[in-house]
Amino acid sequence: MQSSVSNKPVIWDLVVRLCHWLLVLCFVINYFIVEPGRLVHEIAGYTAVGALVIRLLWGLRQPGSSLASYRHIHLRPTDFKTHWAHLKARQLPHNAGHNPLGWLMIFLVWALMLGLGITGFIMEEIDAFFGDPTIEWVHSIMADTLYIAALVHVAGILVTQWWGRIPLIKAMIRGTR
Ligand code: HEM
Ligand code: HEM
Repeated sequence: MQSSVSNKPVIWDLVVRLCHWLLVLCFVINYFIVEPGRLVHEIAGYTAVGALVIRLLWGLRQPGSSLASYRHIHLRPTDFKTHWAHLKARQLPHNAGHNPLGWLMIFLVWALMLGLGITGFIMEEIDAFFGDPTIEWVHSIMADTLYIAALVHVAGILVTQWWGRIPLIKAMIRGTR
């Protein structure tokens, strides 16, 4: 794991943090602020997908010592048991990355973001599907599901942070805990 200037281990590097907050910003713009079908909607949507693709590639090229690397995805039953034991003890390890439940939620968010990008592209760029009600329906269901997933994500983080006595949000802002 890399060290910051203060010698605290870096949990989330700058790329992971920038991509995360860009994703959040683009979602908020598209879901709550701009009217669908506007150019801003397209730009924000593709920016979100771009941030996601950068993050996905970043995970591939990181050394195993980086918590952004996919080598830190552990989803065996024993990993869930260990996480459960940490929760029971009310102490989550401060030098760890995403917990197994967190990874599952992240896969869902990634899939929905990509799905929004793909269906948006189909509606916008392929003449045969312009205004297609089915694609539009799939797109809006994915957007609503992503909204629910984001609410669960934030609630999960707030509860885990309090119950597990671990500053999760701080690490996604400053990089270190
Ligand atoms: C639309 C809203 C949101 C989306 C789509 C979203 C998506 C994600 C994704 C994809 C990750 C994984 C990061 C990675 O490894 O690249 C993540 C992690 C994280 N997010 Fe969000 N997020 C949202 C809102 C928020 C908000 C509002 C907060 C703060 C309150 C937040 C705090 C965090 C934290 C702390 C982590 C790291 C969790 C851990 O330590 O395992 N997120 N989020
Ligand atoms: C962050 C990703 C995105 C979110 C959260 C999002 C969200 C939404 C929502 C909530 C709607 C309204 C659906 C309805 O009326 O039932 C919509 C419509 C639409 N979106 Fe997206 N979207 C995203 C990405 C994209 C992308 C990348 C494109 C492609 C250019 C796109 C193109 C469209 C189009 C063409 C419509 C239909 C507009 C209309 O009703 O005239 N979206 N989107």
